[in-house]
Amino acid sequence: MSHSPNRRRLLRALPAVVMAPGLTACAGDPLPLPPDAPIGPFDADATAEQVTAGLDLTGKTALVTGCNSGIGYETMRVLALRGAHVFGAGRTLQKATDACRRIDGRATPVVIELTDLDSVVAAAEWLRTQTVSLDMLICNAGIMELPQLEQVDGIEKQFFVNHLGHFVLVNHLLERVVAAPQGRIVNVSSGAATRQAPERGIEFDNLSGERSYDPGRAYGQSKLANVLFTLELTRRLRATNATANALRPGVIPTNLGRHMPRWKTWALENLGGSFTKTIAQGAATTCYVATSPALAKASGYFFNHCNPHRPGGHTENTDMATRLWQVSVELTAEYLSGTTSAPSPRAA
Ligand SMILES: NC(=O)c1ccc[n+]([C@@H]2O[C@H](COP(=O)([O-])OP(=O)(O)OC[C@H]3O[C@@H](n4cnc5c(N)ncnc54)[C@H](OP(=O)(O)O)[C@@H]3O)[C@@H](O)[C@H]2O)c1
Repeated sequence: MSHSPNRRRLLRALPAVVMAPGLTACAGDPLPLPPDAPIGPFDADATAEQVTAGLDLTGKTALVTGCNSGIGYETMRVLALRGAHVFGAGRTLQKATDACRRIDGRATPVVIELTDLDSVVAAAEWLRTQTVSLDMLICNAGIMELPQLEQVDGIEKQFFVNHLGHFVLVNHLLERVVAAPQGRIVNVSSGAATRQAPERGIEFDNLSGERSYDPGRAYGQSKLANVLFTLELTRRLRATNATANALRPGVIPTNLGRHMPRWKTWALENLGGSFTKTIAQGAATTCYVATSPALAKASGYFFNHCNPHRPGGHTENTDMATRLWQVSVELTAEYLSGTTSAPSPRAA
């Protein structure tokens, strides 16, 4: 089939159009990196297997949320391939077990339903009985662009699942991460953290979504929350060997687009071309940030294509990060009791 030049141009641009602003690159020009930024040898084409080639993760433990699908599954598969004992979290035991059974290596299923904080706390408490330290805590599970406002406990659902559920999980496991020789928390964010987030950042006065709701903006807000959570974690972990980093995986056709109109996902899958990554590439930045010996001291970065990246927006707003932590504590207080791992800002 031949297309006119205009039609060809349109087809080439279509993936960017249909996915923008949802999954596209970060807004604006990135800010310059500091001279000591840990620039690595990999780029957008690298796969999770390539960035971990030669590493022996035997004796290390990892928790991956959202292990049954997309980037999370590939992350679990490759970490286990390199010898790590991976706890694979799925929303049901069936999903987590099926995923763990499909991979080579040591993987143990665990149920984490992020809309149910009792499930999050129970899983964290169980994990604490299974391992005295956790080398990698990978907050990967997520949902995107629910077409209509949905709430959990009165909070907009994307913010709840993508941020609050992981906030409670991390708080309950922080002590185990700190107990590892060099524990790492990896928060899977998105370019939407800048491109789609509300202009004024986290809308603390609209966390219910009731004042106004836009699917993409709510997703962007939740992904900005992933980055701000990382910033505040970094500050709180400063006196330890543990690190926290956020990342955007790229644009990868996965089940994440399940709430998007069918024509958009079709365009992404069929016309994405060089604009998209494979799932093997999509898990590369996560696996690199979780394992690279070169990143032992790197904390508080936002990675893109396996390298630090400064997308701007509110992603470096430390005041907003501190406020987000305080508000998140208030919203989930009844699920945080017993967490000695959440020091107050004064104690940090
Ligand atoms: N794909 C991309 O282009 C892209 C771009 C930027 C950022 N990301 C981020 O990458 C991460 C992984 O996404 P993906 O592309 O791999 O999508 P995916 O294939 O849809 O995987 C998402 C995972 O999250 C789980 N999940 C959803 N709701 C949950 C809940 N309430 N409790 C616990 N787990 C839940 C899903 O479980 P079920 O299968 O049971 O629903 C699934 O395992 C997300 O944080 C996403 O925001 C992806």
